[in-house]
Amino acid sequence: MTMTLEQVAQALVADNKGILAADESGGTIKKRFDSIGLASTEETRRDYREMLFRSTEAMRNYISGTILYYETLRQSAKDGTRFVDILNEAGSIPGIKVDVGAKPLAGHPGETITEGLDGLRARCEEYYQLGARFTKWRAVISIGKNIPSRACIVTNMHALARYAAIAQEAKLVPIVEPEVLMDGDHTIDRCTEVTEAVLHTLYAELALQGVVLEQSLLKPNMVISGMECPQQASVEEVAARTVQVLKRTVPAAVPGIVFLSGGQSDELATAHLSAMNSAFDLPWTLSFSYGRALQAAALKAWNGKAENVAAGQRAFSHRARMNSLAAAGRWSAELEKAA
Ligand code: 13P
Repeated sequence: MTMTLEQVAQALVADNKGILAADESGGTIKKRFDSIGLASTEETRRDYREMLFRSTEAMRNYISGTILYYETLRQSAKDGTRFVDILNEAGSIPGIKVDVGAKPLAGHPGETITEGLDGLRARCEEYYQLGARFTKWRAVISIGKNIPSRACIVTNMHALARYAAIAQEAKLVPIVEPEVLMDGDHTIDRCTEVTEAVLHTLYAELALQGVVLEQSLLKPNMVISGMECPQQASVEEVAARTVQVLKRTVPAAVPGIVFLSGGQSDELATAHLSAMNSAFDLPWTLSFSYGRALQAAALKAWNGKAENVAAGQRAFSHRARMNSLAAAGRWSAELEKAA
């Protein structure tokens, strides 16, 4: 049965499930493996991702879709079963990151533009054939002295809109990810101002390119204090600010908003999501599309060893369940301890 783009977008945020972002590029996965002293090879990447994708409990109950890197989309588990088949079997829709990374933005020191539009149509068609049904593109906006520039915001949101239009033409649901980084000592006020400007520009650009909002999802940062800001906003304030900015900028036609974790601790990423879902009346579904906040504990428990696969899967299932509860607004710190 072929699902329509609307059905795929809705399925990705249905039933308090969320998305596993397992689309770390070669450089990023190496950094993650460095933290457990494991060399990044095709085989170790396969073993790690097989551990996650064969976490049947988590995949079946809490993970609606999984974002892959192109190596993984083509890769198979040790027994030869394609990862795409393992995911489909577990009810997790396979997706693919299609940008090729953030590169220096000419004339704007300290800022980047995400590349990958050249040849994108042909790549999207190939990814569809390989089994992907949705895509992701991440734009990066840094906060600092005199940045972000208007040029950086406009260029990146324009690229996101062009990507989304091409993805929809290739029958893939685009997730648009404009990430305002939490690095720096800026206040939550500054993050509010920048995130609002970014999302406002994004939805103007998406309209200009004719992107069908019902067939898309948004993956934003939460509105949060800079990591080095001495005055850290409370969970309630992060939830209230984030919802306020989203309500001001994201049309109700968008079926769902799936947050990135962005370097927040596992538990804070969960607490913030739960606070938004429990305290506010919202026009869209709010869920998660976490990378680090879903994987960090699992990576540590697995530690690159075959005998730890079950422990890694237990850690992953636990975080997935906590975040699914947060998507329902029903998470509490006591539930963490109970586990
Ligand atoms: P984090 O949740 O680790 O920020 O990763 C999400 C993601 O997909 C970044 O592009």
